[in-house]
Amino acid sequence: MSHILLVTSSPRGSEGLSTRYASQLAKRLAAQRPGTTLTVRDLTAAPLNHIGEAYVVGRVTPPNARTAAQGEAVQLAESLVAELAAADTVVIGSAMINFGPPSPLKAWFDHVVWPGVTFRYANDSVEGLLKGKKVYLVTAAGGNFSEEPLAAWDYQSRYLKHLLRFLGMTDIEHIRVEGVAYGPEALQAAVASADEALNSLLKHAA
Ligand SMILES: Cc1cc2nc3c(=O)[nH]c(=O)nc-3n(C[C@H](O)[C@H](O)[C@H](O)COP(=O)(O)O)c2cc1C
Repeated sequence: MSHILLVTSSPRGSEGLSTRYASQLAKRLAAQRPGTTLTVRDLTAAPLNHIGEAYVVGRVTPPNARTAAQGEAVQLAESLVAELAAADTVVIGSAMINFGPPSPLKAWFDHVVWPGVTFRYANDSVEGLLKGKKVYLVTAAGGNFSEEPLAAWDYQSRYLKHLLRFLGMTDIEHIRVEGVAYGPEALQAAVASADEALNSLLKHAA
């Protein structure tokens, strides 16, 4: 049985193209795999707090010595890690905001990137502990970042892929919805190209 985790984060909610395509992909993947369960982590409807001292200190404090605030902060991070660890397939929707991912998605990574839990340092190197997952990363952007001259400024995809690989999630399929700010025709072309990419990907994932 497969378990899919869908993480969405566009500030535009369900109107966001990254949310639309990530949700569509997760639902269609689930539909073509009988018995699949789907968990939705909607970071726009229910944003996480930024990490704070309670989490940072709580994480390195033994459970029985934590304050109530530390216990609560660590428990939240533990539940997010468990939700991610339980998935064999992860679908992430990310809207480009000022060349990076939306801050709620950054906050989610800040909770799940955890030394000794989701990665560890070993023999002078780093080992990601969330191995064996398939990740579909859906990014939306106003500009065309898959080609020069903007490719060098694609901190969104590079950052997200770096974090995913850092945690051991190396099998990443990237779907771009891009160039949406260049006018109605460009938007239409971006949507058509994303539709085609999704259909082709789903055919191969069947
Ligand atoms: C506050 C804000 C900042 C943005 N920053 C960028 C940016 O740095 N580069 C870019 O190409 N597009 C930028 N955009 C355009 C969005 O990336 C684009 O509208 C994309 O479709 C957003 O994803 P969504 O459709 O999932 O909401 C920005 C949009 C907003 C609202």
